[in-house]
Amino acid sequence: MKTIILHGGASHRSELSKILEKYAKEAIEENSALDAVVKAVVLMEDDPEFNAGTGSNMRLDGSIQMDAAVMIPGDFGGVINIEEVKNPVLVARDVMLKSPHMLLAGDGAVNFARKMGYPTYDPSTEKARERREKVLQKLKSGEIPEYYHPQFFREFLGDTVGAVARFDGEFAAAVSTGGTSLTLRGRVGDSPIIGSGIYCGSRGAVVATGIGEEIMRRMLSIRIYERIGEAPLQKICREEIEKFGSIPVGVIAITAEEECAMSNLAMPYAQVTR
Ligand code: GLY
Repeated sequence: MKTIILHGGASHRSELSKILEKYAKEAIEENSALDAVVKAVVLMEDDPEFNAGTGSNMRLDGSIQMDAAVMIPGDFGGVINIEEVKNPVLVARDVMLKSPHMLLAGDGAVNFARKMGYPTYDPSTEKARERREKVLQKLKSGEIPEYYHPQFFREFLGDTVGAVARFDGEFAAAVSTGGTSLTLRGRVGDSPIIGSGIYCGSRGAVVATGIGEEIMRRMLSIRIYERIGEAPLQKICREEIEKFGSIPVGVIAITAEEECAMSNLAMPYAQVTR
């Protein structure tokens, strides 16, 4: 039996769940849990509706830096602040499978991607440019006091995509993001940090979405993973999300017997079992 869950980001429009269902149905046809979550994330990275790959947020300076990661029990690969590649999640998978490392960042990640044959690609979109323009204007006019003000994050959140899967007891997780909001160049969110935005072990897989700084502060994914078996998965996820108060956050999680997709605000998601 195979199950996959995809999410399109906390704070994103719930109507996008329809398109995620289509992607989930396509991804579940893959032969392994890892291939399925990677396929699911590639489909979302290629869809400019989502803040990952094509359609990623711009940094305040106009550059696009993306984070992505994949995890299976006992192994992990991630890229941080990678630029000018179409599918950061594919590079993250190559870091895990084809390099001796677990995380590559910045120029090192880009050089590795080129070595692995990924050509230069511009992931920017008109929508991302307009979004940045709008933010810069609001900052200039004083409508948003500072880029690091909580109000800024609330208004300009546009989050991560992710997937978790269980294929006959085999688990995998994958995430990709253009960064929560318009941030400083070099900023790193929770997505490529083991235990914060992603965790996968022999008991299940968890992926988080929301404001990376807050998710890292609480190491949300490992917190949920470590509690598997202690209570129903829905209860565990609800309790961990409640700790964030009104801070936007969401999770998808899967164990041997349970699945959960939950957020404290709108979050498109889809779950398919075959
Ligand atoms: N949750 C994605 C980020 O903060 O970058």
